[in-house]
Amino acid sequence: MKKAVLVSGIQPTGNLHLGNYLGALKNFVALQNSGKYECFFFVADLHSMTEEYNPKEKQKQIMNVALDYLAAGLDPKKCVIFQQSAIPAHTELMWVLNTLTPMGELERMTQFKDKSGDIQEKRMVGLFDYPVLMASDILIYDAKFVPVGHDQLQHLELARTLVRKFNAKFGNTFAEPKPLMTNVERLMSLDDPTKKMSKSRPAGCVFVDDSPEVIRKKIMSAVTDSEREVGYDKEARPAMANLLMLYSAMSGEKIDMIVNRYIGKGYADFKRDLAEVVISSLTEFQKKKKEFSKNKTLLKTILEKGNKTARKIAEKKMETVKRKLGLSK
Ligand code: AMP
Ligand code: TRP
Repeated sequence: MKKAVLVSGIQPTGNLHLGNYLGALKNFVALQNSGKYECFFFVADLHSMTEEYNPKEKQKQIMNVALDYLAAGLDPKKCVIFQQSAIPAHTELMWVLNTLTPMGELERMTQFKDKSGDIQEKRMVGLFDYPVLMASDILIYDAKFVPVGHDQLQHLELARTLVRKFNAKFGNTFAEPKPLMTNVERLMSLDDPTKKMSKSRPAGCVFVDDSPEVIRKKIMSAVTDSEREVGYDKEARPAMANLLMLYSAMSGEKIDMIVNRYIGKGYADFKRDLAEVVISSLTEFQKKKKEFSKNKTLLKTILEKGNKTARKIAEKKMETVKRKLGLSK
């Protein structure tokens, strides 16, 4: 039987932080290794054009995400790794879906509201249309599953709506994609547990490339609360809950086991150990990343091969779409 298709991507906009690592990357690897899916993971370079953009940095940023993929354990023998902009069918399908998307649907997107601000000249059509491109990324491969963090659920819902609309109007063509969430849907910022960890707040981020010294410093200065003992209460003690979730996700240990170990100890002990847990999980990743980065030709070959595979599938789907639309015979 054919395996269900799974698609996801990450934007090349700078270094990944632990939110990306736990909310996306680590999960990608687990899903790939489950053997249950036909996996496609791409570098969302076109999406990254909706953020601050420097063409001189872009190649490096694209390669950096590809390296993160490989270092985390994505294996080109088990999944297709590619670059979004190398597959023109993504943007071709986006146009078609644009003609089915009411502006009202996009106006209510939280990400658009958060990122676009109030200055009219800065409210770009690209950012507005971002979720439609994301829908195209998914639908062009007939993906049934999309692993993403909590912040992308609204966009996925739009993709599902567009599937229903297209299929109703032009005949059954696309599959409805479902989100696959990790245990770490939302890792919060280390300096403010009410905000999600995000590179727009670097002070609250641990980046996957941070050195052990920097990780120690950041974790030791993470905000906690005025209680004395380590304990888990998501509502009343969000900062501690976040650190415990981080500890658990990085070590694989259950939260109550961790809490039990710290009975009678202070926050400093807990944080010191948490820093070491994060460091040791990232050491392996950083080592592999360094090795892969030495072999630029290999990286290029992997992407070229992935692009070729993805392009073939996407072009074939686009031919079907054009037939359904009466644009070709
Ligand atoms: P981005 O870098 O914003 O394109 O995000 C890449 C992936 O990481 C997406 O699947 C996001 O949902 C996920 N992600 C980003 N920030 C966090 C966070 N703080 N906690 C959990 N997942 C996150
Ligand atoms: N919007 C996603 C993010 O910021 C990245 C992305 C682009 C994506 N296209 C996608 C994720 C398609 C999953 C499927 O994280």
